[in-house]
Amino acid sequence: MHRTDIRPIIDEKRPKIYIETYGCQMNVNDSEVILSILQDEGYALTENMDEADVILANTCSIRDNAEQRIWGRIDQFRLQKRKRQGVVIGIVGCMAERLKDKLLEGHEVDIVAGPDSYRSLPALLRAVTPDTPQINVLLSHEETYADISPVRMDRNGVSAFISIMRGCNNVCSYCVVPYTRGAERSRDPQTIVREAQQLFDCGYKEVTLLGQNVDSYYWKDASGADKDVNFAQLLEMVAKISPELRVRFSTSHPKDISDEVIYTMAMYGNICRHIHLPVQSGSSAMLEKMRRKYDREWYLERVRKIRSVIPDCGITTDVIAGFCGETAQDHADTLSLMEEVVFDSAFMFAYSERPGTLASRKYPDDIPYEVKTERLNEIIALQGRMSLKSNEKEIGRRLKVLVEGASKKNAEELCGRASSNKMCVFPSRGEKAGDYCEVEVVSVTSATLICKRID
Ligand code: 5AD
Ligand code: SF4
Repeated sequence: MHRTDIRPIIDEKRPKIYIETYGCQMNVNDSEVILSILQDEGYALTENMDEADVILANTCSIRDNAEQRIWGRIDQFRLQKRKRQGVVIGIVGCMAERLKDKLLEGHEVDIVAGPDSYRSLPALLRAVTPDTPQINVLLSHEETYADISPVRMDRNGVSAFISIMRGCNNVCSYCVVPYTRGAERSRDPQTIVREAQQLFDCGYKEVTLLGQNVDSYYWKDASGADKDVNFAQLLEMVAKISPELRVRFSTSHPKDISDEVIYTMAMYGNICRHIHLPVQSGSSAMLEKMRRKYDREWYLERVRKIRSVIPDCGITTDVIAGFCGETAQDHADTLSLMEEVVFDSAFMFAYSERPGTLASRKYPDDIPYEVKTERLNEIIALQGRMSLKSNEKEIGRRLKVLVEGASKKNAEELCGRASSNKMCVFPSRGEKAGDYCEVEVVSVTSATLICKRID
């Protein structure tokens, strides 16, 4: 089936909606679901806040600074309301779910909608008046938006996100997500494959399957257990659409990533050789307190397994510095694990206490700000060296790169990612976004592989 309606509708006469997205890839995809729902209601997207009838912020609660940023934006949105009567401001997503009607108190927000109530946005918009703000923060055990075709807002039409599940059942003690996104539920695999096929038919070359913990994806089929689908099987179903369609996924949980997933990756050349495997800490004592349900040894064994089956697999991670009670030795354990694994890249954070989480109730946030910052800086500096070391191993290797567009620094050059997710730049021969190029790595920085063309 060919679809042409996956791009935003351009229609001057329609009321305009402006959407800002914060947080993770899942939120990027949720904004595309929201746009789909609101286009059906007669709205059209605008990228210019000054002409918007409805201003939405799809928000993140993961760390306090994410929320502080959004409070700042709400002040900006309120200025729009002063300039133009009738503008509606909506706060949706994780922060809406966490703060609920607190967002309505004196802040001139008109609509508050949590991650499972996007279908009610048209009704909320119809009901809202300057004196009657609207709120829906009900969480669901079933909602997966499976039947909604997201309206794609990416720039280049090459790479798209597909949510395969929602919510999270792993109560990591530091994390607010189970409270903001509710219980885990998996989406019907047929609807996932159909969405990936539609994207491919529309010219997309890469899909990223998204979930808080993709390894616990499990579809129980009503027609019998032999029709059940686990994550490895889902990956295979999507990979079979076409060898020209690259498949990525995120996020993997070290406690759940199975050998079956690793072997499935190895079997299909179009499943990208990249696993985002958040470690959080290299100290088993910290991991226990974080309720990660694995220890340092388990994590290192999973890395060895991945590399024994897929030697060129990119492995990236998330690290938290200064969790409750973290000793100098715990911190040293994180550094030594990073040196042992040599991650290709990492997202690194200072611990931020989140209200309502297990850690906030049980453990004092007792690492002073200066110590957290110092440890974080050490982690960041070490990762810089590890990224460089990992990239240096690529020199001389031949890679297949999916072109994303012109390189930012030099219009004569193209950029795109290798299967491992590493960013490559190389001379253009007039290819377009979405083409594949064969290149050889000649030199590197900690962030980029600089390549030449191979004839
Ligand atoms: N403080 C700091 N970092 C956090 N993360 C999640 N919760 C917190 C928190 N309270 C990080 C984890 C997770 C990533 C998405 O954000 O590393 O993997
Ligand atoms: Fe932020 Fe987590 Fe919500 Fe994503 S799921 S928007 S990272 S709080």
